[in-house]
Amino acid sequence: MDSGKQLTLPLMMSVGTAVIGSLQFGYNSGVINAPQKVIESFINETWFDRYQEQVTKSSLTAIWSIAVSIFSVGGIFGSFSVGLFVNRLGRRNSMLAANVLAFIAAALMGFSKMASSWEMLIAGRFVVGLFSGLSTGFVPMYVGEVSPTSMRGALGTLHQLGIVVGILIAQVFGLDMIMGNENLWPFLLGFTFIPAVIQCVLLPLCPESPRFLLINKNEENKAKTILKKLRGNTDVSADMQEMKEESRQMMREKKVTILELFRSPLYRQPLLIAVMLQLSQQLSGINAVFYFSTRIFEKAGVEQPVYATIGTGVVNTAFTVVSLFVVERAGRRSLHLLGLLGMAGAAVLLTIALALLEQLKWMSYLSIVAIFGFVAFFEIGPGPIPWFIVAELFSQGPRPAAMAVAGFSNWTANFIVGMCFQYVEELCGAYVFVIFIVLLLIFFVFTYFKVPETKGRTFDDIAAGFRQTAVTGAEKHSPEELNSLGADSQL
Ligand code: GLC
Repeated sequence: MDSGKQLTLPLMMSVGTAVIGSLQFGYNSGVINAPQKVIESFINETWFDRYQEQVTKSSLTAIWSIAVSIFSVGGIFGSFSVGLFVNRLGRRNSMLAANVLAFIAAALMGFSKMASSWEMLIAGRFVVGLFSGLSTGFVPMYVGEVSPTSMRGALGTLHQLGIVVGILIAQVFGLDMIMGNENLWPFLLGFTFIPAVIQCVLLPLCPESPRFLLINKNEENKAKTILKKLRGNTDVSADMQEMKEESRQMMREKKVTILELFRSPLYRQPLLIAVMLQLSQQLSGINAVFYFSTRIFEKAGVEQPVYATIGTGVVNTAFTVVSLFVVERAGRRSLHLLGLLGMAGAAVLLTIALALLEQLKWMSYLSIVAIFGFVAFFEIGPGPIPWFIVAELFSQGPRPAAMAVAGFSNWTANFIVGMCFQYVEELCGAYVFVIFIVLLLIFFVFTYFKVPETKGRTFDDIAAGFRQTAVTGAEKHSPEELNSLGADSQL
């Protein structure tokens, strides 16, 4: 039996527990959307009790916008701090420790109504953003490091699956008949407490990353024992061999700081690719849909926009599952390309639908189809792939710094889209998605020329490919040539 192809119980348990962190991220990105009106009236009442006057429209908008977007600010700080933890505490214990933040955030948000304090709500959103930022580094790193090469893409996609399931749960719980109402919204926000408890119970039962133990801690026996359990096989010599090779390489590289990452020509190419892929994920415009879909549907004349929004959550989840099953066969590069192109096509449809809405009422149906298509193509590639490919593009030495820079780029772009979309929409009207069409095409061209296939290749092999490129010059090595370095990279 090939030890690299087994989905063992310990492996499932480790990955399943880790992605609870991803679920928290998704839940908290989605949760604030539906209960906007009830929370706004809470802010209004609190304001009135304190100052004996109604809050002005502009102050209310400002407080609300801050409450929504401070989550991404927390994410920016959190993701940038990943490197501070993972090498000191280890991968698993970093995830465990981060839950302190989830508990603090749940308490701040859950008790804000009782304490008549919208400041607590804002503080809680920031803290849960910090937690989510850390998770977007910790989870893909841990999952990438415990997974066998042949399943790294499929298991890596589980991070995104955790996120999208989190968004969907938040959309459903946020319905006013469930928790999105005047009385229960504090529970809706405080719900974050429950996944945090579950993760704290399960994580101690999961192993530390064997790659971390061997390469960073030099604990060979421990690493070997864990690997045997994860692989369900007593012969793990091939895995050990590969890690040792990476370790030898790392002795030469040493630990890499963020500054060194930018300075060294060795990392220029993979760093550029990692950052561009993160930008392609966020600047595709996906969160224009996830943050404002109800509003977009309303404008497009859809009768029950809340249900159409939940529809996007369902399509989102379904297509992440599709990607999970095809990513090891089709490869990262082709799926990313297909996703970007499909999104551009869907955005063209959406623009036509929005532009012709006045003349043709049935265009509102086309807009639903277009948005569902946009989301579906996103999850085929641009959703899951950027998250896990960064761990693949870098070896153990530069990986934490690279994850931090990639996460930072992702969250910053997320923040920019969240802040600017409504204003840009006012300026451009029905044509607002044209901006995303142009960006999507630029990212398509970049991916086509610069992104190598990483499917089926060991971390060490991928790093070796880039080292070669750095020495001989980027232009001499096309993605196809890099592909050929892979053991089984043919379709
Ligand atoms: C990705 C993005 C996130 C987005 C989600 C939608 O995980 O990082 O910002 O909301 O996909 O499914």
